[in-house]
Amino acid sequence: MPDTVVPDPTPTHESLTPPTGVRDARFRPADGASDAPEQRLEGTWRFRLSPTADTGLDPADDGAGPGWADLEVPGHWQLAEAPDAWPYGRPAYTNVLYPIPVDPPRVPHENPTGEYRRTVDVPAAWLAGGRVVLRFEGVDSWFEVAVNGRVLAQSHGSRLPTEVDVTDAVHAGANLLAVRVTQWSAHTYVEDQDQWWLSGIFRDVTLAHRPAGGVEHVTLRADYDHMTGTGTLRVDVEGGSDARVRVPDLGLEVAAGATVDVGVVEPWSAEHPRLYDVVVSTGGETVTLRAGFRTVAVADGVLTVNGAPVKLYGVNRHEFEPTRGRAVTRATMLEDVLLMKRHHVNAVRTSHAPPHPHFLDLCDEHGLYVVDENDLETHGFEVLGWRGNPTDDPAWEPLLVDRVQRMVRRDAHHASVVMWSLGNEAGAGVNVGAMAAAVRALDPTRPVHYEGDWSSAHVDVYSRMYAATEEVALIGRGDEPAWPDAAADARRRTLPFVLCEYAHAMGNGPGGLTEYVDLVDAHPRVLGAFVWEWIDHGIATRTADGTPFHGYGGDFGEELHDGTFIADGLLLPDRTPSPGLLELAAVYAPVGVRPVPGRPGVLLVRNRYAFTSTAHARLVWEVVADGDVAATGEVETVLAPGGSTAVHVDDVAPDVLTDLSPAATAWLVVRAVPRDGRDVAAGHLGAGHVLLRRGAAPAATGTEPTSRATPAATAAGGHRVGSVELDATGRVVRLGGTRVRLARVDAWRAPTDNDRARAWAADVGDGDAWERAGLTRLHERLDTIERDGDALVVTGRTAGAATDCALRVRYEWRAVDDRTVDLTLRIAPEGRWPGSVARLGWLLALEQPGAGDVVVDWTGLGPHESYADSARAALPGRWRHTVDALGTRYTHPQENGARRGVTHARLDLAAGPLTVTALDVRHGTHAAPGVELTARPWSDTALAAAAHPHELAPDGLLWLHLDAAQHGLGSAACGPGVLPDAVLHPATATLHLRLHA
Ligand code: GAL
Repeated sequence: MPDTVVPDPTPTHESLTPPTGVRDARFRPADGASDAPEQRLEGTWRFRLSPTADTGLDPADDGAGPGWADLEVPGHWQLAEAPDAWPYGRPAYTNVLYPIPVDPPRVPHENPTGEYRRTVDVPAAWLAGGRVVLRFEGVDSWFEVAVNGRVLAQSHGSRLPTEVDVTDAVHAGANLLAVRVTQWSAHTYVEDQDQWWLSGIFRDVTLAHRPAGGVEHVTLRADYDHMTGTGTLRVDVEGGSDARVRVPDLGLEVAAGATVDVGVVEPWSAEHPRLYDVVVSTGGETVTLRAGFRTVAVADGVLTVNGAPVKLYGVNRHEFEPTRGRAVTRATMLEDVLLMKRHHVNAVRTSHAPPHPHFLDLCDEHGLYVVDENDLETHGFEVLGWRGNPTDDPAWEPLLVDRVQRMVRRDAHHASVVMWSLGNEAGAGVNVGAMAAAVRALDPTRPVHYEGDWSSAHVDVYSRMYAATEEVALIGRGDEPAWPDAAADARRRTLPFVLCEYAHAMGNGPGGLTEYVDLVDAHPRVLGAFVWEWIDHGIATRTADGTPFHGYGGDFGEELHDGTFIADGLLLPDRTPSPGLLELAAVYAPVGVRPVPGRPGVLLVRNRYAFTSTAHARLVWEVVADGDVAATGEVETVLAPGGSTAVHVDDVAPDVLTDLSPAATAWLVVRAVPRDGRDVAAGHLGAGHVLLRRGAAPAATGTEPTSRATPAATAAGGHRVGSVELDATGRVVRLGGTRVRLARVDAWRAPTDNDRARAWAADVGDGDAWERAGLTRLHERLDTIERDGDALVVTGRTAGAATDCALRVRYEWRAVDDRTVDLTLRIAPEGRWPGSVARLGWLLALEQPGAGDVVVDWTGLGPHESYADSARAALPGRWRHTVDALGTRYTHPQENGARRGVTHARLDLAAGPLTVTALDVRHGTHAAPGVELTARPWSDTALAAAAHPHELAPDGLLWLHLDAAQHGLGSAACGPGVLPDAVLHPATATLHLRLHA
């Protein structure tokens, strides 16, 4: 025995004990759904933070004295005064790594611990009969509850409920409630989700009267038989006797505990979230649940809802608000649900923990399929080769089983929950089977999901994350590589397949959504896919001088952190939809509109709903010529679920192309517009476009002016061609009245987060390849300048230091009139290139104070930005934005804001308008409909160097990119890079532009 034993400051939770002194987990009725009285204990509590778990504070201390302060509950103490001050430590972000030594179940002596106090009023009537119960919906991570100085319970499971019977400790009137919450505990090891480490009582606390004979727990099963159109209902009630069940809308009143045939019902689905009030009464309490009749089944590798195969067009949602962390308000929960519906998301995985229960009420009501995920992740053991992983340690079994049981008991009455997930990234091991069995024992009606064990031995769906499209295609066909264990392999082949995560939405991206979703649509076995993730977790903070910004890992002085990896959502932290979300809406659209390869002039319209016809949508077609609607009409068709129709321009507008000027670029557009005015992204339920004809250049159409101005010498020894002035070496120095600081070809962009990463299957990341090719340090050498007839021809070579990769350039300037000039720019790469290039085009830096306010009108794809592999949300038309509004202020600055297919653009510069017309644009053998246009008030170098948006300052120049092509976006930050058809290879490019200034 050692002489002295250091007292363990965490004596109550150093061992692996399940919660003690707590009641059985109970379902959570919706707000106000029970007639038993309840108080929400939100608002101001007293609080005091101690550096160790052994706070030395008496639970009988009411917190009125010195050293205590006010704190809002629910909330995280680290965010108590965010974004202004950090009185109780700061948020910390790690993705995989534990921020404490891996020493399970022990934790460091230094363990920030919050002591909470408040008084609660217990009405005398509550003590006349029944029990008084305190309920915590979420406390991170371990906590101890005392009432009137008496310690009653210890609990954990940060995103799970805890109920404590306080009846014998309270009296009528004011009572002192004390809660001690530690930041770290044994349970930290199973809560290693990729998010901020934030502590405290962050969800509702309620004090409720549980009447004698009240409804303690309800197990509700509302099935739907799609063959007969009828439902069955079974409600089992714990607590009370002679419980009765009424369904007013069905005129039904029956005893609980029996399965009853309820006759014809309207089924629940995410498309038609019909809910029926189910009123459960015991002598002591009446609770109204909202039931959806629906049956989820897995058969022959297909998941069905109400007999119909459904597809899950999903997102992963962590709970997050920039000033509140996971203490999200009900208003934010509703905002999330409505934003998802608006953007055609039909499924949500509650990554990686059960959400606030109100979120599920909203999913029931508004219609979202939910994969409800257990609060379990042990990812930090992966870096140790999974040594000591709790998932594979029998000592942890009771705790892990307790967690899934509490989730299922809380949430099983929700129609929206269609699948249980055992957790995330917790490896494989003996406890997976135990958890799956525990779930099935409580609820045999829903399939079980878990990605962490690819054998799929214990689950009902085969789940993976970030698998490449090639592999998903193999799995879809049932041709995937075999799992080593033959029996497990055979079983796995019978299961539906889901991508529980794909398309890492970090920064500008994801690219390539269409390819994945096409696989979901094409293969019955591919059930669906969930984008990672819903929102950037940027925490609202300020610089020393008070400038607000959203911080990521490392912005809070963390000793270990994972930087920008926390900013990987479809929403910016303030819930502004990113271009990625708009693209997702276009790809998930319930009415799909797509060109048909090999069939010019045709758009195929497909009803992608499982249950709904397109009767609620008008199918509007338009021929858009040079941005204007040249002809429009409606297709009078109602498509049944799964049905499709082809819209051919020759059928709907047979003469339109012959009536148009040959110079016009024309597109066919079809949009499904809701008849009921529902609020959907971009105002439609789906849209698509196909190029009908690229406008012919004026020379070919005979519209070319006959007299051309010839190049002239300038007083400064340079040259003037139309509106352009060049110096003696051939450098552009003026465009109309605007001075030009820089004009050269460019092949680089400020790397996106995806560019900065190396895709799983790649040897080199795109950003690194560009760096190696010297694209970050391009310089132009001008070789020759000469007259060629009425043209001025400048040739040269553009390359970066330390490399022999180069771009040969040839500028041919030809005046059209005094204010107009044609430029034909040819770019020809030479040398051995290490990979792709970011862009191929012409870069101008125009002197322009207040460049962000310059208005840009353009004809091309818009109004949203578009990239080679993210261009479904943009439609042809005539659009207008300021330079500032063209851009996206990503939490971590990077390339953004490109507009493709631009045939014409006008920039209202201070010295007068500059118009750019794209007469011909080619990359390799590909003829593009227009240029890719990007305009911003700072350089790409500044953009790449900025760590946060507020660091970017306009530099007095308008940086204008006119590109023949730009590289796609991909998803390399986590998963595959840019898919082959969106990779920009170093190949010849030609830009034939007409500039008027
Ligand atoms: C997954 C993980 C997510 C998140 C993502 C990367 O592996 O499940 O929680 O970390 O990677 O952002």
